[in-house]
Amino acid sequence: MKAAFLLGSLTLALPAFARSAAGAGEDPNAGKVPANLITPSGPVVDAASYVAPATAKYDYADVLHKSFLFYWAQRSGKMPYQRLAWRSDSFVNATGNYGEDLSGGWFEAANTMKWGGPLAFTATQLAWNVYEFGDAMNSVGERDEALDWVQHGAEFLLNTYTTDGTTERLMGLYGDSAVQTPGGTGATQLTDVDFGYYGPPEEYMEWVPFGKPPTAYYCEGSATLKKGCSDIAGDYASALASASIVLRARDPAFADKCLAMAETIFAFATNYLGSYDDPAFATEQGWLNYKEWYRSYGYQDEMALASTWIYMASKNETYLTTAQTHLTATETFVEYSWSDKGIAAAILLNKLKPTADLQATISTFFSAWLPGGTIPYTPRGLVYYDKWGSLSYATNVGFIALVHAKTITTANSTRLVNFAVQQMNYVLGDCGRSWVVGFGTNSPLLPYHKSSYNSYIDYPMRGQSQDAVGDDFLNSATANRQVLYGALVGGPLNTDQYVDNRHDYTFTEVTQDYNAAFSGLAAGLIDHYGAANFKAASDCGLDLGWGNPNATKSLPVYQKGDCYHTCDPCSKLANSTSSPAPGASNSPVAGTATNPHQSGATMAVRSAFLPAVVAIATWFLVA
Ligand SMILES: *[C@@H]1O[C@H](CO)[C@@H](O)[C@H](O)[C@H]1NC(C)=O
Ligand SMILES: *[C@@H]1O[C@H](CO)[C@@H](O)[C@H](O)[C@H]1NC(C)=O
Ligand SMILES: *[C@@H]1O[C@H](CO)[C@@H](O)[C@H](O)[C@H]1NC(C)=O
Ligand SMILES: *[C@@H]1O[C@H](CO)[C@@H](O)[C@H](O)[C@H]1NC(C)=O
Ligand SMILES: *[C@@H]1O[C@H](CO)[C@@H](O)[C@H](O)[C@H]1NC(C)=O
Repeated sequence: MKAAFLLGSLTLALPAFARSAAGAGEDPNAGKVPANLITPSGPVVDAASYVAPATAKYDYADVLHKSFLFYWAQRSGKMPYQRLAWRSDSFVNATGNYGEDLSGGWFEAANTMKWGGPLAFTATQLAWNVYEFGDAMNSVGERDEALDWVQHGAEFLLNTYTTDGTTERLMGLYGDSAVQTPGGTGATQLTDVDFGYYGPPEEYMEWVPFGKPPTAYYCEGSATLKKGCSDIAGDYASALASASIVLRARDPAFADKCLAMAETIFAFATNYLGSYDDPAFATEQGWLNYKEWYRSYGYQDEMALASTWIYMASKNETYLTTAQTHLTATETFVEYSWSDKGIAAAILLNKLKPTADLQATISTFFSAWLPGGTIPYTPRGLVYYDKWGSLSYATNVGFIALVHAKTITTANSTRLVNFAVQQMNYVLGDCGRSWVVGFGTNSPLLPYHKSSYNSYIDYPMRGQSQDAVGDDFLNSATANRQVLYGALVGGPLNTDQYVDNRHDYTFTEVTQDYNAAFSGLAAGLIDHYGAANFKAASDCGLDLGWGNPNATKSLPVYQKGDCYHTCDPCSKLANSTSSPAPGASNSPVAGTATNPHQSGATMAVRSAFLPAVVAIATWFLVA
């Protein structure tokens, strides 16, 4: 969200916080903690003696299914069909200064910003999830959905690079969280724009203040201009190269296009080495905002990871050497996040060509995170790195722990698996509650997320001033009117205590990047426990908003036998294993509109997964 504060009639963009451990900023309580903290009911544990249960304690397939639903809530652009009744087309005419289509991608958090780095980190991670655990996803019917999201991210990123033959440009940021107040005095007088809007994305373009649609901001390079952003460009190249790997079987031509663009953008990153933290960017408010919320802290890790993925996609040894060079120059290996990715490059490179140096780096990293290391644990067993996104930091490391565990001896991998399971199970209920919206016991009801509260089908304050709408959003005790399934919220204090409200958004914020490795961790645990022990999850029984009378016009049409989207039993007819047409797998088929949650409706089939689903012998019951 990168939140802002409401002050009288003018909303001011204050530096609420930076989403990094190194740059933790202010929080909404300005150093105070809420008075009404809740202590979760789970037992206090000794993290060091934790042993993962022999059978899965939670339904990780359901978690994965819901985590992908969250990306529908964040989806920008034209919807291929409406999965959620309360999210429709938005930003369909979003265009860059050079004619680029910027309608797609995902919104960052509660808002509608597209910060290039965190968006591409999300895209890369969603591809990495499939790269490592695609078979487990396939066994529970989720791989096609996963690939659709990889493709969606790649399609947006393919549009971000342009050249006129003289100047190359990379679109690195779309949207204005805040702008200089028109007619205001003083260089620092800002008005919140995106951050000051509390309505649905579908209506953002009609609302835009000062008659000014969102701005696109660029990194640029030419013979005379060196305004490079190797951090953002590295993220884009990683996302496109990893997408090319996992999408190749389904669409080789698209995979080729992604790889070619990954190499082009990586060359741009190399030729105009630099960071958006550099002074060249400081003349534009958009870039100052970016630095405020997502400071770079260096690009060597992004370059190392990008070069690694391009090597994996192309097998061109030059990229392997380049990756090693950038990894040697990488500043820190402290966390794994939108900001800090050196450890990901180290783990991938170590799988390809293990070295003692890489193993030492990896070993030092996990020693810090595992029980007994330098990073503290909460009483109920969460490894606690930072008050912003504590659960995400823990599940990010849980994901890479499972990846690394596959490559080492059993004795050492057991510790990593115990760690990953403990962190995930804390999130899903072991601490006494669930931290994932719409999953498990006592899950969050008031996530800091605007469109699930004020959706385009249910927006009681539509037309009122955004100050009033925002005041209601932050301070009302009314639960979000739509269920933001699958969203991982920020997390607790280091005491495990929390509040569930939209005002104290350190606890309840959700973001695209929080959910990315979290999805992969769920898939990794399906793999760990054996996919045959999980049943495929479904939208059946979920409240996706279709009961709202305002939703009736947009009912999606699914084929009969589509047990993914509906309560229909899986069709025995739909046993094709052929790949869906490019871009078509999310498309509904023509037919009569029916409520997708009524059994027997007309439905679309995910052609690729049904054989696997049918083959699953054991229907697993969750404890
Ligand atoms: C988008 O552009 C098209 C063509 O110019 C126009 O017809 C349509 O109204 C625009 N849509 C929105 C939501 O602005
Ligand atoms: C490998 O990549 C480098 C850097 O882009 C390029 O110069 C070289 O031609 C590539 N080699 C092959 C065999 O494609
Ligand atoms: C196993 O872990 C120990 C302790 O961290 C370490 O010294 C050893 O090198 C590891 N062995 C392997 C094969 O990774
Ligand atoms: C449906 O939309 C109308 C018009 O915007 C609004 O007044 C009404 O509250 C909405 N109904 C629900 C159930 O959200
Ligand atoms: C399903 O698979 C069987 C065996 O391969 C085949 O005979 C049948 O035609 C398939 N049905 C459909 C609808 O594709």
